This record gives sequence, structure tokens and C-alpha cells, in this order.
Amino acid sequence: MTLLSVPVVTIDGPSGTGKGTLAEALAAHLGWHCLDSGALYRALGLAAEREGLALDDPEAMASLAARLPLGFAGRRVLLDGEDVSDAIRTERAGMAASRVAAHAPVRAALLEWQRRQALAPGLVADGRDMGSVVFPLAPLKIFLDASPEVRADRRYKQLKEKGLDASLPDLIRDICERDQRDRSRATAPLRPATDAIMLDSSTMSIAEVLDRVLEEVRRVFPEQVS
Ligand code: C5P
Repeated sequence: MTLLSVPVVTIDGPSGTGKGTLAEALAAHLGWHCLDSGALYRALGLAAEREGLALDDPEAMASLAARLPLGFAGRRVLLDGEDVSDAIRTERAGMAASRVAAHAPVRAALLEWQRRQALAPGLVADGRDMGSVVFPLAPLKIFLDASPEVRADRRYKQLKEKGLDASLPDLIRDICERDQRDRSRATAPLRPATDAIMLDSSTMSIAEVLDRVLEEVRRVFPEQVS
């Protein structure tokens, strides 16, 4: 296993726990890079649907993953040069992501690319398997959780803010279905790394979660963070 040459913090957990927001805020605070691994699977699902490919075909999905014309411009996600940042955030794209992410060959095709994002001065990586599979040697691993109702409510507000259509009961159902698929898949199932710090964000604001994680960052990387 390759040793990490830069500090890496992994943030894993189910959807709607605030992982993405936390990862971005932490990376901005530290001046480190941020890897939103969910965006990879979401962009892959979107590309597959656009090309009319079968999401349940592991080989077709892996070959698409290997040639995915994905790019990033700051926080914007580009597919073949087109800004798909909003298109990949819909619930439909989340479901498609969860289906393509279940295939072992897809995960293998995306593994090295993700590892290459560990660049100086450091990386905050969020997803489902950042601590368990992609960066198993990361010195600090956080597993963020929250109740399904709280997560659905947060997602509902996010979607409404973006002017997207949403129904709370549908979101709770979708979140439970996606969690179930993510937790039960054979490859890289959603589960905390054995050395992860567990945090339940149900009753915490994002600022409180950030403060709590920063305490850990200072403890684990005292020389990088004041
Ligand atoms: O985090 P986000 O909701 O954007 O992820 C979308 C889907 O991508 C998840 O439901 C999960 O199935 C998949 N995913 C994954 N491994 C990751 C990140 C996301 O399987 N590291």
C-alpha cells in the first residue's frame, strides 16, 4: 500500500449528513485540496444515461469510467467541457450514481485517479469508502452520520434552495433505498473504517461539526495546523 506523502483527512458517511459541506469548509479553512468522490459516480451515471448505456452492466460502466471526459473548474464539475454541476445533484443522478458505484470494475477504474488527488499541501476527501478503501492509511478518518429524517429534511431544503422540485416523503424513501444499496454492496460497502471517529450530526450545526473536526485535525496534524 502506498504511503501518503501529504496529510489526508477522509470524511465518509451516508448522503445528506453534511459531508460535502464539511469537506469543502474544512479544505477551505486549511487551504487544502478537496475531493468530492460522489461527483465522479454521479457524473458517470449521468454520462451513462445520456449515452443510453445500461447502468447495470459492470463492464460497459467500467469502460465508460475509464474514458470519462471529466474535468473540474474550481467547484464546478465538467463533463466533456459542459458544466454539469447542477445536473449531477438531482435525486435521479444520485440514484444512478449509486447503481453504477455498486460495480467492482467501476470502482477499480476510478481508484488510482482518486489517489492521485492527494497533493500538497493536503487533501480532504469525502465519500463512502475514502477511509476504508481509497486512503486506508489516512491518519484522520471521520464517519459522519445523521438520522434518515434529518438527512431527508436537509436534502429537501438544499433542493428547494436550488429551485429544484422535491417531495419530503419521496426523499426519505430514496435516501433509505440508496443507503441500503450502498451498505449492502459487495465492493467497498458504506461502513466506517475501523479507525474512524464517529460523529452524529443530527443535532449539530455545520459550524459545530467543523469545530469538532478541526480539534481532531489539530491533534493529528499539529505541525500543519495552528
Ligand atoms: O456523496 P454523493 O451523494 O454525491 O454520492 C452519490 C452516490 O455515489 C452514493 O449514493 C454512492 O452510491 C456513490 N459513492 C460511492 N463511493 C464514494 C462516493 C459516492 O459509492 N466514495
